[in-house]
Amino acid sequence: MKKIAVIGTGYVGLVSGAGLAEFGHEVTCIDIDEEKIRKLNKGMIPIYEPGLKSLVSKNAKDKRLYFSSNIEGVIRDSKIIFIAVGTPQDSDGRADLSSVDSAVNTIISNLNSYKIICTKSTVPVGTGKWITSKISEKHTADKFDYVSNPEFLREGSAVNDFLFPDRVVIGASSSKAFKEMREVYRPLFINKTPVMEFSVPSSEMIKYASNSFLALKISFINEIANLCETVDADVHDVALGMGKDGRISSKFLHPGPGFGGSCFPKDIEAIKALGESNGIALNTVSATIETNKAQKERILKKIFKLMDNNVKGKRVAILGLSFKPNTDDIRESPSQFIVSKLIKESALINAYDPVAINNFKELYPDINYFENWKDCVTDADACIVMTEWNEFRGIDLVELKSLLKSPSLLDAKNIFSIKKLKSLEFNFDNVGRNFI
Ligand SMILES: NC(=O)c1ccc[n+]([C@@H]2O[C@H](COP(=O)([O-])OP(=O)(O)OC[C@H]3O[C@@H](n4cnc5c(N)ncnc54)[C@H](O)[C@@H]3O)[C@@H](O)[C@H]2O)c1
Repeated sequence: MKKIAVIGTGYVGLVSGAGLAEFGHEVTCIDIDEEKIRKLNKGMIPIYEPGLKSLVSKNAKDKRLYFSSNIEGVIRDSKIIFIAVGTPQDSDGRADLSSVDSAVNTIISNLNSYKIICTKSTVPVGTGKWITSKISEKHTADKFDYVSNPEFLREGSAVNDFLFPDRVVIGASSSKAFKEMREVYRPLFINKTPVMEFSVPSSEMIKYASNSFLALKISFINEIANLCETVDADVHDVALGMGKDGRISSKFLHPGPGFGGSCFPKDIEAIKALGESNGIALNTVSATIETNKAQKERILKKIFKLMDNNVKGKRVAILGLSFKPNTDDIRESPSQFIVSKLIKESALINAYDPVAINNFKELYPDINYFENWKDCVTDADACIVMTEWNEFRGIDLVELKSLLKSPSLLDAKNIFSIKKLKSLEFNFDNVGRNFI
């Protein structure tokens, strides 16, 4: 059992903290947001993530998981400190490391005994070197080891991803640090999960390269989808055929309205900026970014086309506000882009999402929100499916048609049967599926 502190109790910090407690460690999650900590101590979970509430309450009840705003005290009392604060994009595309910097400063002031300082936040290559030299200005080398341990969990399946990862990546420069980290992840050895050891820069790069590659796959299939539309091919058939090739794999070959979320958009901008500052052109990364922007515009054009280029004063029902299903995270969600543009064109917006409405309301307080999809689409001039929540997959198309004022539908996640849409005489469009 290790005494662990997790600095930053957001999507990654809270799931990791609860997961590390489940591994048998004594974990305290800390945050500068005192309200968040207060709620957590009352058993309230500030985010929507399947399975998280029961994992948190079980480990809190078993006295392995704690929440505190006493950041200094918890750091002094812990052996391993995970940094899991946000690293958003700054104005020039780079990762904004101010929260990491502030967490490191607090660690420096409270380094009262040997500790492992481990970064889980996604940070540019070179950050470990910078943090190590910053701590070394105040403390001798025997007082700490620095570790990079990037996180690969996906929102929506984060608990499962943390407890049963494909691999754990550890970057360090001392055998003592590797040994400590192997002990942290010891329960995973039972499932033969690879716990992989690298240098700190390689570990930092693995995270950015992985996210860039996944984003590239999405942009690639979106371009293929767009081409399929013009040559009467069906992108789902194409993806199916491609995905059976083990060198390609079927994952991340789903076309749609472009990727969003709190990771891909900022991480690919950050690796592009890293390339630029090192004189290395990352052309595939730049193309991924451009393709993603173009895909969102293309979806907007499809909406306009469906509505005869006349959206002013028309009511558009948006189904799905989060950037993907099973999360309430709306950061960089394609729905935000579409809603902003439609508002600019004086369309009237109806919106529904199973869990993300409250977050969306903070940014768009003046659109009409509904408690279910049926009320949302009632009397609307068009319906746009932006997120593939399971509850939308089950929509009865006969009922949908009867509720809409005009049967115009953009299925931006390709969840509905084309055959059915055709037989019901919907005016519809999708992404990359032949329906002639
Ligand atoms: N969200 C994901 O799916 C995901 C997946 C893998 C990696 N990551 C990376 O993990 C990091 C965290 O992402 P997130 O989505 O959990 O962010 P988040 O915004 O949900 O949470 C960050 C938390 O850190 C807290 N915080 C900020 N500065 C602090 C400080 N100095 N001391 C204590 N707490 C502080 C904030 O109050 C917030 O609660 C980012 O680098 C992100 O790129 C995220």
